[in-house]
Amino acid sequence: MWKIGNVEIANQVVLAPMAGICNSAYRRIIKEMGCGLITCEMVSDKAIYYGSKKTIDMLAMTEMERPISQQIFGSDTESFVVAAKYIYEHMKPDIIDINMGVQCPK
Ligand SMILES: Cc1cc2nc3c(=O)[nH]c(=O)nc-3n(C[C@H](O)[C@H](O)[C@H](O)COP(=O)(O)O)c2cc1C
Repeated sequence: MWKIGNVEIANQVVLAPMAGICNSAYRRIIKEMGCGLITCEMVSDKAIYYGSKKTIDMLAMTEMERPISQQIFGSDTESFVVAAKYIYEHMKPDIIDINMGVQCPK
């Protein structure tokens, strides 16, 4: 058992967050295989801010996937706060993971 903040995690096997891979069906298979911490597909703060149905549908998660971490990608404070509050209020993920993006040098 280990903890991130007050979130208790049964073992130290963590699913890497992977855009385009970590949907709910995939996560449930990985959970059944014994993974301790499940992560979701990254979602864009702007997509949630502007109410994109496709992105909101990506937030679906089931109780058996807990503890679960939802990653949000963004760099603008206002839309990020709105998106984080929306996700917290609607999905109650155990962890919100902030992805500030990677900017490659030109
Ligand atoms: C297809 C794919 C999608 C990924 N998407 C994300 C992502 O959305 N957010 C993130 O933080 N990392 C993402 N990553 C990085 C992985 O979470 C992980 O950190 C990286 O693959 C290094 O781990 P590895 O050496 O075990 O591959 C992605 C990696 C892959 C291969």
